[in-house]
This record gives sequence, structure tokens and C-alpha cells, in this order.
Amino acid sequence: MEISINEVQKMTSPNPFALITSGTGEKSNIMALSWWTFVSNKPPMMAICLSKKGYTHELIDETGEFGFHLIGNEYQEMAMKCGRCSGRNTDKVKEFGFLLQDADVIGTKLIDRYKIALECKVVSSMEASDHWLYIAEIVKIHSGNTGEQLFAWEGYRYLDTITNVQESR
Ligand SMILES: Cc1cc2nc3c(=O)[nH]c(=O)nc-3n(C[C@H](O)[C@H](O)[C@H](O)COP(=O)(O)O)c2cc1C
Repeated sequence: MEISINEVQKMTSPNPFALITSGTGEKSNIMALSWWTFVSNKPPMMAICLSKKGYTHELIDETGEFGFHLIGNEYQEMAMKCGRCSGRNTDKVKEFGFLLQDADVIGTKLIDRYKIALECKVVSSMEASDHWLYIAEIVKIHSGNTGEQLFAWEGYRYLDTITNVQESR
């Protein structure tokens, strides 16, 4: 039996969910991301996969940097909104009420609350058909104190914690 790649992506979720910050100053943007992985320990590096249709890859190409955040469930609604509209025509920071703070090393700001925030500098990018793959060095690691980690379930369909989903089953 043959099935679609979308069905496979539903079967392989949940994926640990992240918010990416990109751009600087008034052009700061936030997007929802579940296609990411670590790729090296020394130095620490990660990869993120961004749709060509989105705005985030344009901002990352301008600066060569991004902020990566693992976030708690207090951001459940705001985070989902970041995955449903584009920074090209929506100021997600202002409209959804995010607060940003300066990073230590990169010029892109970080979200004020997180479980983990990584400051990342792009070292290479590769075209992958309808996406761009970015490989970045993690130049600073921050640990914070927020709620329970959010996961993306059934592909991109909804966000929730492992505990909530287990309890509702
Ligand atoms: C749960 C969830 C996970 C997502 N993961 C990704 C992803 O890994 N890569 C991607 O390109 N888009 C992903 N998206 C879609 C983008 O967040 C969405 O297209 C967003 O509007 C892009 O914003 P931008 O145009 O401001 O960059 C995801 C959306 C949701 C809701």
C-alpha cells in the first residue's frame, strides 16, 4: 500500500516544537518550526528546514543568524498563530503580544521566556526542492524556566504537551 508523505509525517509526529526568531529591530519575526535536528556536538550545530514560501529564510539570509527556542505550554496559542501567518504581512511580535530581549552574541532578538534558547549563526545552506536547509553553529546556549515542552502533533495540526495528550486518550 502506498501512502502520502503527509501521512508519513503524521505517523512520525509528535515533533519537539520550536519558535525561531529572525531579522533585527522593527523587522523581527517569529515562526513556528518542527523540522529541525541537532547535527554536531563539537562545535554544537543544528539544522533547520524552512519553506521557500515563508518570510523567515529571507530574513535569515540578510543577517546569517537566528534564535531558536524550545518553549513551554503557556505559549500554546501564540505559538500556533506564528505558524498560521507570515511576517511578510503581519507583525507577529506586536499582534500576538510577544516580548523580545537582546541576545548575547547575535543581533537577532530572543523571546523573553523559554525552556532553552539557542543563539545560532548560519554556516551553510542548501536548496532542498521546496525548502531551504540551513546548518548553523550554536554560539550560545540559554536555559530558562517555563512550562511543559510543546510538541507538534499529527504533522502541523496542533500543539500540546505529551502529558495533556496522554491524559486525553
Ligand atoms: C506546528 C507547526 C510546525 C511548523 N513547522 C515548520 C517547519 O519546520 N518548517 C517550515 O518551513 N514551516 C513550518 N511551519 C509553517 C510556518 O510556521 C508557517 O508557514 C509560517 O507562516 C511561516 O512564517 P514566516 O512567513 O513569517 O516565515 C509550521 C507550522 C506549524 C503550525
